[in-house]
Amino acid sequence: MQIVVEESSMGSTEESGAVAKMKKVYEKVSLLVTSNAVVVFTISGCCMCHVVKQLLFGLGVGPTIVELDRDASGHDIHRLLFQQQPVPAVFVGGKFLGGIETVMACHINGTLVPLLKEAGALWL
Ligand SMILES: *[C@@H]1O[C@H](CO)[C@@H](O)[C@H](O)[C@H]1NC(C)=O
Repeated sequence: MQIVVEESSMGSTEESGAVAKMKKVYEKVSLLVTSNAVVVFTISGCCMCHVVKQLLFGLGVGPTIVELDRDASGHDIHRLLFQQQPVPAVFVGGKFLGGIETVMACHINGTLVPLLKEAGALWL
């Protein structure tokens, strides 16, 4: 995942505040995804989020789950980072894997489990 912040285009102090805020949110997300093998960003009551969580639980993975509508800074994370990426957003080994389609596709083509093992989320 790459977030490009164009500071040069930010003029007023209000906009600079937005940049600072975005950086803070980005740092928080970076720390979350790099310090946990598997992170799933969800919204409570989202059906596909439930599916992806059940799939991971079924494989024996205990993902870190961030509920964007419950977490205190979840609204900011959602607004700033996931406007283009609907939930669930799954990170494995500090890298953005994808949404439900990608996770399912990887599960079906057999690349999900090796990926989880590589990330240290699975031992067997
Ligand atoms: C498995 O599916 C994922 C997601 O579509 C894709 O990125 C990956 O290249 C596929 N791998 C193989 C070996 O088919």
